Amino acid sequence: NPSQSTKTAALTSLILAAGILTASAQTTLTLTHSSPADSHFGLAATAFKKVVEEKSGGTINVVIQRMDNEREALESVQFGSQECAMGSAGPLGNFVAETRVLDVPFLFDSYKHARGVLDSDVGQELLALFPAHGLYGVAWLENGFRNLTTGSKAVHSPDDLRGMKIRTMENQVHMQAWQAAGVLPTPMAFSELPSALQQGTVDGQENPIPVILSNNLDMMQKHLYLTRHVYSPGIFVCNPDFIAGLTDEQKAAVEDGGKAASAANRARVEQDETAGIETLRKRGIEVVEVTDRDAYRKAMASANAGFESQFGADLLKRIRDWK
Ligand code: PAF
Repeated sequence: NPSQSTKTAALTSLILAAGILTASAQTTLTLTHSSPADSHFGLAATAFKKVVEEKSGGTINVVIQRMDNEREALESVQFGSQECAMGSAGPLGNFVAETRVLDVPFLFDSYKHARGVLDSDVGQELLALFPAHGLYGVAWLENGFRNLTTGSKAVHSPDDLRGMKIRTMENQVHMQAWQAAGVLPTPMAFSELPSALQQGTVDGQENPIPVILSNNLDMMQKHLYLTRHVYSPGIFVCNPDFIAGLTDEQKAAVEDGGKAASAANRARVEQDETAGIETLRKRGIEVVEVTDRDAYRKAMASANAGFESQFGADLLKRIRDWK
């Protein structure tokens, strides 16, 4: 029956067209992050996915992947070969130089202080600079206050650090501060750290409790010194062209997802900071509460003049005086 077969053909093309439309109406957003799934960044990524997929009415499909090399992740987002990335702001200053001000040691007194500054005009003004550098800043996250860990070498005071090789992030400000303390800073991507520690290429490293816990760094280190010498912000960026191509509803979903990511991230950092230190102690690493943190501040102090001329005394004061 020719009319029947014409009808069937028409129906088939209609079904196919609908299929193609549905497929093209769904955008894939690949999001990488730099820690295990059960960590302050892993949970942030999961929270983002849930909110974005719901609020975009299923038109955005978030694919989460782990990528330890944070510099490469930022490059891929800038280039557009992946849509978004979250992780520490360690290498961010190599893309948006002004954000380096946040990396100055002993700038923030507490999580309340750091979060307050990132949530204030200072944080917003810094995010506004991202598009000029090929990145769109969705939200500030956090990695946490960084602490020193070492292998066989014990550190009784910052003097013991002289000549020691400490792995740092690829972050100029951190390197300058450690250099001032007489350390030989050895910058490398986190992915290279386990073999560097195992082969003794470096004597130690520094990272926040959530990172030490979730990556089992205590298995590779003997001593953990609660130096809390620098706050390590986290950052969540996307490709600006990708964001510009979204509908208003999808953009709003990404913004809401960013807020959910930040809340999940901060909640987990808090949990790790309260319960995690005891967990680490029980696992066997020696945990040393550093009573004289001021000694570390003083050891790094000769780098401060350079930071003042780089970032301006006014901005540093504005951050330090935040209430
Ligand atoms: O030390 C680093 O490179 C960062 O703190 C890390 C571990 C990649 C954050 O997840």
